[in-house]
Amino acid sequence: MNFKLLAQITTLTLTCMLTTSAFAGEVEVLHWWTSGGEAKSVAVLKDLLEKEGHSWKDMAVAGGAGENAMTVLKTRAMAGNPPTAAQVKGPAIQEWAEEGLLTNLDAVAVKENWDKLVPSVVTDVMKYEGNYVAVPVNVHKINWMWCNPSIFVKAGAKIPTTWAEFETSAEKIKAAGFLPVAFGGQSWQEATVFESIVVGQAGTEFYKKALVDTDPKALNSPEMIKALETFKMIKKYTDKNAPGRDWNMATSMIINGEAAMQFMGDWAKGEFTAAGKNPGSDYVVMPVPESAGTYLFNVDSFIMFKQNDENAQAAQNAMARLILGTTFQEVFNVNKGSIPVRTGIAKASFDDTALRSMDEFAAAAANGTLLPSMAHGMAVSPAIQGAIYDVVTKFYNSDMTAGKAAAELVAATASAKE
Ligand code: BGC
Repeated sequence: MNFKLLAQITTLTLTCMLTTSAFAGEVEVLHWWTSGGEAKSVAVLKDLLEKEGHSWKDMAVAGGAGENAMTVLKTRAMAGNPPTAAQVKGPAIQEWAEEGLLTNLDAVAVKENWDKLVPSVVTDVMKYEGNYVAVPVNVHKINWMWCNPSIFVKAGAKIPTTWAEFETSAEKIKAAGFLPVAFGGQSWQEATVFESIVVGQAGTEFYKKALVDTDPKALNSPEMIKALETFKMIKKYTDKNAPGRDWNMATSMIINGEAAMQFMGDWAKGEFTAAGKNPGSDYVVMPVPESAGTYLFNVDSFIMFKQNDENAQAAQNAMARLILGTTFQEVFNVNKGSIPVRTGIAKASFDDTALRSMDEFAAAAANGTLLPSMAHGMAVSPAIQGAIYDVVTKFYNSDMTAGKAAAELVAATASAKE
């Protein structure tokens, strides 16, 4: 026997075991990050897990804002075969926890100090009866407007800060032969634009009453009717191919110089970044008109399903730990267009928009003006959200009056609560 070789092999094996985990397991991860920027972002987590010796089974379900992913998740859970981890957020986390299917993540959370690192406005959403059942990933801001500056220059138009300016600029852009708005006609995208108008025009208190508390008086009010009318006004500046268009296709139209503006959350930045575009020169990002100073937020998170197998448990715990680790928080968020959800992350690699978003998020969290996004599952239950989506999309895509739509918002949200 060649003892020298045997000793070398043993050392090599031991080194491998030490650099990977004692238990190497698989995580099957259900998510909806399939656009260029999103895929690049989620790959960071896969790589980190694989470096620790775990394996990643990808269960990507295309469809912005995760509607399709949630349908697949329900089917899998009902069949008794949920994935290891799934991208779920907001009040839906509580609904999943109530089913008794989720892993208690307190051991990782205590060891990693999540309570200290993550603001309570976020951790509150991640806990069920005081225990962590979800891991927060990032913070996205919703009410942004993405612009192609060269179209504005060619059209002699100003980047708008009010809806009146928007109409003036959109007319000029149209007259210069460009499409003013890259619009994706899917109900979640319509709801995204709509809620950004509501918060900007009617203010934070009104937004809370209408789209968080679903107060009938706010839902059927002059402010709501005005916001609906503004929303509908945008339609004349969109193209005939808007229905069904995916959000990242709309972002490409800004990138390629086909359209001047898109109203979308800052995951759109991930597309500009992936295309090698620079903020300021290649694209300009501004708050949705009239919404400066307001912050509609959305926190992506993963719930984890109970596992019997020790290796799978180890992989799951590693995933939870890595998500809130400094490497992932920095690299993922730079690629994704979001900001870190925890403190203690170096700021050097983030651009001005992200730095501004970090300051605004902290300020809004401190003074209580942080507003959960209705369109992105942070404000109301999935049933109420679905009811609002339905009315908004019906209104936008028919000749229904704003007054009728406001009345329907009251009826639809009331029946979703029953
Ligand atoms: C998610 C983002 C995602 C976007 C488009 C949002 O609801 O929070 O992470 O990029 O939808 O799918």
